[in-house]
Amino acid sequence: MIRVLFVCLGNICRSPMAEAVFQHKVNQAGLGRHFEIDSAGTGGWHVGERAHHGTRAALRENNVAYDGRARQFTRQDLTEYDYILAMDKSNLSTILRSGYPEDAEVELFLSFAAQRGLVDGDEVPDPWYTDRFDLTFDLVSKGCDALLAYIREQHNL
Ligand code: 4NP
Repeated sequence: MIRVLFVCLGNICRSPMAEAVFQHKVNQAGLGRHFEIDSAGTGGWHVGERAHHGTRAALRENNVAYDGRARQFTRQDLTEYDYILAMDKSNLSTILRSGYPEDAEVELFLSFAAQRGLVDGDEVPDPWYTDRFDLTFDLVSKGCDALLAYIREQHNL
């Protein structure tokens, strides 16, 4: 089982979108049985809440299902996931300050898409502030394509 965790600040905008889109792409590729996919926020303000209405609207418009609730990232996640993907550099440094990732690969989510020339930057701007959920979806979708390609290479899937 390949365990993948997406992490942002609130776990209501970016990381639940990435979780939903990545699960969708994994399912479409017929690889669902190989993956366990979740998301979390470094902050705890929205624990238990549904995703932001902007995230839910963007997912709905693109026919991607999502029914998750926000939870907070814990240091235990460092030992339970194989790939931990941070939406921005601030999230990444919070994750790395929480403990030592023994076996997990901890990366900026967009680094794989940036390496493949699909996107310019390596951070997903926060739509909580920008309100650009359409742009977020576009970046998340490209990021998930590149991440899935990378993981498939790593695991010969
Ligand atoms: P997210 O966006 O990290 O993409 O879920 C945010 C959601 C909530 C807050 C900040 C960012 N907040 O400050 O409550």
